[in-house]
Amino acid sequence: MILSVANLKGGVGKTTLCYHLAYLFTRKNFRTLLIDIDPQGNLTSCYLSTPPDTSNHVKRLFENEIPIPIKINENLHLVASSIELSKHESQIKLESYFKLKAYLELPEVRKKWNVVLIDTPPALNIFTSNALIVSQYVLCIVDPGDFAILGYKEVKDIIFDVVKRLILMPNL
Ligand SMILES: Nc1ncnc2c1ncn2[C@@H]1O[C@H](COP(=O)(O)OP(=O)(O)OP(=O)(O)O)[C@@H](O)[C@H]1O
Ligand SMILES: [Mg+2]
Repeated sequence: MILSVANLKGGVGKTTLCYHLAYLFTRKNFRTLLIDIDPQGNLTSCYLSTPPDTSNHVKRLFENEIPIPIKINENLHLVASSIELSKHESQIKLESYFKLKAYLELPEVRKKWNVVLIDTPPALNIFTSNALIVSQYVLCIVDPGDFAILGYKEVKDIIFDVVKRLILMPNL
């Protein structure tokens, strides 16, 4: 299962939810891969006290390299992030939207994990798009406020848009 947590509104609890879901899945003995694809790197800092090594960094996907997940415990690994990711934000090539999909479809990656949880930034950018494109499920978290509900509606519209485009371009 590949699941993204998304809302275009910031600060609604996306990262916190990912963190707690990861704990719950690993307790149930699911082999869980966390992917922090937010340049803020907040999920990463829940586990690491220093910036991640380049080899473990999600930015590698955008440099045509394969990131190596960091082992957090027996059932939990993390592809980490930090502000370094933001230098790839302006990539506009079509193939850049499918980097995470290509990674998660690698046979050695695919067979290793039962659950992949992706924490996204509060924006519709290349990173959120990568997450939505590869996800089977999107959990859109809202807090009780108009802006978060607006952010949810925007995510829903984007998902429909992405699905429509994927149907039009089945070979991608
Ligand atoms: N269920 C909750 N109840 C109360 N506070 C919460 C809850 N979930 C998260 N918080 C707090 O809200 C703040 C924002 O949470 P978090 O960083 O998880 O949001 P986010 O959506 O990931 O933010 P961003 O959009 O910047 O990535 C944090 O201080 C967090 O501790
Ligand atoms: Mg966050």
